Amino acid sequence: MIFTKDDFGPDFHWGVSTAAYQIEGAHDADGSGQSIWDAFVAKKGKIQDGSDGNHACKHYNHYREDIQLINTLNIPNYRFSISWSRIFPNGTGYINQAGVDFYNRLIDTCLKNDVTPWITLYHWDLPQELQKKGGWVNREILNWFEEFATTCVKLFGDRVTNWMVLNEPMVFTGAGYFLGYHAPGKKGINNFLPAMHHATLCQSLGGRIIRDLLPHANIGTTFSCSHIDPASQETKDVKAAKRFDALLNRLFIEPAMGLGYPIEDLPVAKRVEDFIQADDEMNMPFDFDFVGLQNYTREVVKYNWYMPYLQGQIVKAEERGVETTAMGWEVYPPGIHKMLKKFNAYENVKSIIVTENGVAFPDHCEEGKVKDVQRVKFLQAYISEVLKAKRSGIKVDGYFVWSLMDNFEWAEGYLPRFGLVYNDFETQKRIVKDSGYWYSRFLKSSKVML
Ligand code: NOJ
Repeated sequence: MIFTKDDFGPDFHWGVSTAAYQIEGAHDADGSGQSIWDAFVAKKGKIQDGSDGNHACKHYNHYREDIQLINTLNIPNYRFSISWSRIFPNGTGYINQAGVDFYNRLIDTCLKNDVTPWITLYHWDLPQELQKKGGWVNREILNWFEEFATTCVKLFGDRVTNWMVLNEPMVFTGAGYFLGYHAPGKKGINNFLPAMHHATLCQSLGGRIIRDLLPHANIGTTFSCSHIDPASQETKDVKAAKRFDALLNRLFIEPAMGLGYPIEDLPVAKRVEDFIQADDEMNMPFDFDFVGLQNYTREVVKYNWYMPYLQGQIVKAEERGVETTAMGWEVYPPGIHKMLKKFNAYENVKSIIVTENGVAFPDHCEEGKVKDVQRVKFLQAYISEVLKAKRSGIKVDGYFVWSLMDNFEWAEGYLPRFGLVYNDFETQKRIVKDSGYWYSRFLKSSKVML
């Protein structure tokens, strides 16, 4: 398609995204407390390459150069998260001024470099002290989160207008409290259901806290999503796909939109009722200014009678013979369009911002260059789909690439490289990939085509 960034209009928000634990390093510097990820990576066998986020991209020390680089690349918006345990080493109570100072410096550096900061309050790094009390499974999290969110908004709200409450609650509750392959490594439905319900409540609670303290803030929260197709048109596959869709794409957004949990299509979630208290249902919705949509791939689902709970199974992309990424995910650009359409169909959605989209490929740096042709094509194809969606009347108002630079990809360690900028983890040298140069030219000139 022959489109330029002008086709998106002057108010479209272009940016890049990161998260604290994935880039900051300095895990125990200046009085920071331990997070569940610090504790999780210390256990044997949890991270594929045996690594941890102790140093990551050392962004805690290199934030100045990193922000300057964002500016040099003509990227106007930067989404990052706040490490809860840097601010509250014990999760609540005592505030660590050195942690506050770091985020003050970071925000001020953004503003000095004409980069607009977008803050995610929670991107998965719960203080370990709170996990000791059950973490997201304990309803007390509502009070802990209230204290954390209120403090951040009071500290940084004078300079930051754009806020996101949670990052991908489906992933941090599903992988962290059901499957156990993310921190804190808890498993089973009895952990998952309360964690999920408390995350749903914190999602809207966070929105209300920001609105009360900063009436003019632009408030969102983010959702992971993947278009889901049944493996065949047989009724049992179609039904299994519907259950997966309710789980992966609807479980958190629908209560926020005032629709409650999608229990009809996901009967196993009915047991969440055990954790619902008086007034909860009234408190689940919040009128977000934008919905953060995060999309990478699609899934194909097949009925499988012995799969507990869902009676269906994801058919891996490699078994389907489609183009895949270093994560084993299918490259499927129409999926982002379909998900934009799906979210846009909720009556209460005011605006959608793609707060993450991107890809990991096995990049190599040779003679100071990273020729990541595949990533350039991936971004062009996905961004084209976003434009098609916008042109069809869908309210999509922004697009952020995941990620600024290669970083710690959770349980996969440093193997998958998602960055527009290559990071040499030995030297911490940042090398802009061809995709980074392409994005930069695209954002700068009205002549660079998709
Ligand atoms: C979603 C998460 O928010 C982010 O932390 C992660 O690195 C990317 N997806 C890629 O998997």
